[in-house]
Amino acid sequence: MNANKRGALIVFEGCDRCGKTTQNRQLFELLTGKGVDTMQTNFPDRSTAIGNVINHYLQNNQELSDEVIHLLFSANRWERMNSIKKDLLAGTTVICDRYAYSGVAYSVAKGLDFNWCWAPEIGLLKPDAVFYLKATPDELTTRGNYGEERYEKLDFQRKVGQIFDRFSEKDSSYWHTFEASKSQQELHAQIAIVAEKIVMQSAEKPLGKLA
Ligand code: TYD
Repeated sequence: MNANKRGALIVFEGCDRCGKTTQNRQLFELLTGKGVDTMQTNFPDRSTAIGNVINHYLQNNQELSDEVIHLLFSANRWERMNSIKKDLLAGTTVICDRYAYSGVAYSVAKGLDFNWCWAPEIGLLKPDAVFYLKATPDELTTRGNYGEERYEKLDFQRKVGQIFDRFSEKDSSYWHTFEASKSQQELHAQIAIVAEKIVMQSAEKPLGKLA
């Protein structure tokens, strides 16, 4: 580890069951194998006190208003910011499964206002890259375990996908879109090429904040 070089913040986004978790793991293994100091994390982080409430909500064991759960998802990111920042500055690349964009996409899909949803995310660390695994919801239904949690319904996922599409157009300078229907190996190969570049380029850049 070089004390002057920071790690990259790489985020995976996409609808439920789009293959993010597998790609996240494969990227982690690849970078680690190449000697890049790397860690994985995910949101929601269900291990914290706030994460525990979110977990109950997602498993349909607790009812909360759309506004309240939105702010809890955001607070769950804020409570992890200092430690993620510390890791990045220490030279560790952080690969994160879901981030602020999921926060906005799922809440806007329920009918909340886009700008209201984005407001609590302002000031969070800005990812160096977002890898968006874009899938049609019809493809997603054929994947395992679909339908077990609150949001895993076709119409809803379609709306969520539209918000991700909106981000990918608006923030095209750091959003990279990949077709989730490709084979795992093909996807991984494409993601790996971009990720290695991002890790090198980010090392010299200051950390940014979401605005
Ligand atoms: P996650 O644990 O990533 O589940 P999965 O492995 O199925 O993708 O996320 C759980 C659900 O929470 C998922 O449907 C997306 C939703 N979510 C939000 O609504 N807001 C958020 O801020 C985040 C991070 C996730």
